[in-house]
Amino acid sequence: MTYNFDKTPSREGTYSFKWEKYKGRDIIPAWVADTEFRCADPILESLSRRIEDGNLGYVLPGQYQPAIDAVVRWLKDKHNWDIDPLWLVWTPGVVPAFNAACKAYCEPGDKIMVQVPNYPPLLAAPKLNDMQRVAIQTVEVDGRYTLDFEQLAQEASDPACKLLILCNPMNPVGSVLTQSELDQVAEICQRNNVVLCSDEIHCDLVLDEDKVHLPAGRDPKLKNNSVTLMAASKTFNIAGLGASFAIIPDAKLRQHFVKAAAGIVPWVNQLGLLATEAAFTRCDDWHTDQLDYLRENRDLVYERINAIEGLSVKRQEATFLAWVDASGLGVDDVQKWAEQKGVGPSPGVDFGAPQHFRVNFGCSRKMLSEILERLASE
Ligand SMILES: Cc1ncc(COP(=O)(O)O)c(C=O)c1O
Repeated sequence: MTYNFDKTPSREGTYSFKWEKYKGRDIIPAWVADTEFRCADPILESLSRRIEDGNLGYVLPGQYQPAIDAVVRWLKDKHNWDIDPLWLVWTPGVVPAFNAACKAYCEPGDKIMVQVPNYPPLLAAPKLNDMQRVAIQTVEVDGRYTLDFEQLAQEASDPACKLLILCNPMNPVGSVLTQSELDQVAEICQRNNVVLCSDEIHCDLVLDEDKVHLPAGRDPKLKNNSVTLMAASKTFNIAGLGASFAIIPDAKLRQHFVKAAAGIVPWVNQLGLLATEAAFTRCDDWHTDQLDYLRENRDLVYERINAIEGLSVKRQEATFLAWVDASGLGVDDVQKWAEQKGVGPSPGVDFGAPQHFRVNFGCSRKMLSEILERLASE
C-alpha cells in the first residue's frame, strides 16, 4: 500500500458535523458518513492552485469540460458505462437531487416507495414534498439483506405509486444489488410505469471483491425511466464541497428534473467541480488503496462486534458503515447503551430500526480499535 490511512488529520476546531455532537465528552463519534482520511494529494493540489489564483466567482458547471470528461472516463473505466455527456446534470448534493426527483415525477398526494431501513433524508423526502411514503421492507435472504421484492411488486401496482427511490449500495445495510435483483427492479418499474431514482452515492465503495456495482441507468431496461445519482463525495472524502451529479439518459425525464430544480437548487461550486475532476482522473491508486484499508477495517468490525454478547453484524458488501443489530442486548435504548460505553454511532431509530445502530469505520485502524474496545468493555 502506497498511501498511509493510519495518519489522519485532526478535525478539532473545524466545526465538523460529526465531531461537534460529542464535543467535550468522552465519546468517540462514529456516526455521520464522512471519513477521517486526508484527501488524496491531487485533489488538495488542485484546490490549492485555484485558491492561489484567487478568484472564486461563478463558473458554468454544464460547460466545465474537464470535470465532465472526468465523470465520463470514471463511469467508463470503473462501471463499464458509456454515457453521453448530455445526460449529465450537476447537483450540489445527492439530497437535493432526490428531492428534486420527487417534485419532478410526482404530484402532491402521489406515493413514493422507499426501502426501510434507509438513510434518514431518503425516508423524509416523500413527506417533505407532500407525497406519501410507502415503506418497502428489507428482508434477510441467505444471510444477506435485500429488498422485499414481493412487496415491491405489490405496492408498485398501485397507480398512485409514481416513483421508487432506491439506495444502491444500500445504506445502512450495506448490500449491493445483484443483476437478478436489478432485473426484478427494472421489470417491476417498467410494468407499472414507475420511475426509478437510484441513489448510488456509495457505488465506488464496494468492498467484496466478487461483487460489482450495477448502475441503474446502464441497464437497457432502465435507461429510459431512471435517474442515477452519483458523486465522488463519499469515496474521496469531499462531501463538504457539495458536488454530485445525476445521469438521466431520457430527455423528457431530464427536462422535468432540471425544471424541478431550477431556481431552488444552486449550481455546483467550482471547488466541488475541481475536486471531482481530480478525484476521477488522478486518484485511481489512492482509491484502490483505500478500498484495501476499508476492507480490513470491515473485517475487524465483523470479527470484534460479533464477539460482543448481544450484538451482531454482517460483513458489509459495500460502504464504510456497519449496521449493527443490538436487539440481543435486551435494552430499550441501544444508542444510549453505546454512548455510555463512549462511542457515538448513528441511531438506528433515525433509519427506521430502533434496535440497531450504525458504526462508521471510515477511520484509522487506531481509532476503530478504540471504538471496538469501548463497545466490548464491561
Ligand atoms: C445514501 C446517501 N445519499 C446521500 C447522502 C448525502 O448526499 P449529499 O451530501 O451529496 O447531499 C448520503 C450521506 O450520508 C447517503 O448515505
